Amino acid sequence: MADLATTIPSIQPGDRLLCGPGPSNVHPKVLEAMQLPINGHLDPDFWALLLDLIEGLKALWQRSDGLSLCFSASGTSGMEAGLANLIEPGDPMLVIHSGFFGARIAEMARRAGADLVELTAPLGQIVPLDQVADALVKHPDTKLVGVVHAETSTGVRYPVDQLHDVIRTAGADDALLLVDCVTSLGGEEISPVAWGIDFGYSCSQKSLGCPPGLSPFSVSPRALDRIQGRKAPVSFSFDIDLLEKYWVERPITYHHTMPILQYYALYEGIRLSLEEGLQIRWARHEDAGRYFQQQMRDRGYTFLSDPDHQLWELSAIDVPEGIDGKDIQTQILRGFGIEVGGGLGPTAPPIWRVGLMGVNANRETADRVIAAFDAVLPR
Ligand SMILES: Cc1ncc(COP(=O)(O)O)c(C=O)c1O
Repeated sequence: MADLATTIPSIQPGDRLLCGPGPSNVHPKVLEAMQLPINGHLDPDFWALLLDLIEGLKALWQRSDGLSLCFSASGTSGMEAGLANLIEPGDPMLVIHSGFFGARIAEMARRAGADLVELTAPLGQIVPLDQVADALVKHPDTKLVGVVHAETSTGVRYPVDQLHDVIRTAGADDALLLVDCVTSLGGEEISPVAWGIDFGYSCSQKSLGCPPGLSPFSVSPRALDRIQGRKAPVSFSFDIDLLEKYWVERPITYHHTMPILQYYALYEGIRLSLEEGLQIRWARHEDAGRYFQQQMRDRGYTFLSDPDHQLWELSAIDVPEGIDGKDIQTQILRGFGIEVGGGLGPTAPPIWRVGLMGVNANRETADRVIAAFDAVLPR
């Protein structure tokens, strides 16, 4: 047998300006929070922090009813947990998608045993609302509608604010609405009550400016009733009822050992977001995105997204003919320390994905990215 190493090198990550699809750079105060003394997950002071965090999560999600908590896992698990709680084998579900993450919802729904109807559109476009209406009229027994609010793979925003009316008008009265808010939470308006969102999930690492690894979620009273009435039990890790007991009941009922420092980080990220003011924060993301996109358009670049549905947090720029997009990404990373993304998945068109999220949602950061593009790709 080969000798095993007796040690491994110490970690020396390079400095990066993270302007890809996520993670974004972590706010310095969030990093500071992660240096605070670690308490145990059964420490009464940590329990108190969890209760305050719930108030912060409710404010962040703009929802005081239902339940707002966080899974100790990334956005993908938030997606999976939503489906695990709201789908039972054979349940009719409609997934509206035109991008990598929407397709992932469909794939997870299939694995959860949903009787799946999929509506798709070409990348960069949305599935028109009248097609959603037609599908629901055809399938009025639909139990769950799933959609991505901010599709990070294409830079497209879905008009989730209009879905509730479409669902009700079509007569699909039992249909709950599950929305992926992984990129949008903290970066743009989400109004779960007015928009009829029954299960929203997100992540920590994009518009909230925290490290990856947590999935804040929010559930409506209607969805909680559905979960209570399930025939099949939910997997232990994603059991919202058990999680609520853990977060809220005292003395605490142990569920899992929380990643304490990650929770300090999320706490501080949410505290900073609320201190800034959500509307100001949303406007900051919009201003940065609009500015970046206009500057790039002025240089002749085009975008994958339909302009009527263009996200501000994420811009998917078409790689010009004859240019090696991957090579440009590498030059920007190695020459400027700036991460920008490429297309996601085997069917992705040649694009660069530039994210201006969290602390990076400002014109100064946009200018740094533009300067790097200008340097490696002179006009
Ligand atoms: C829209 C969307 N949904 C889901 C995910 C998955 O989140 P995570 O990578 O944190 O598991 C991502 C990640 O980029 C995303 O952009």
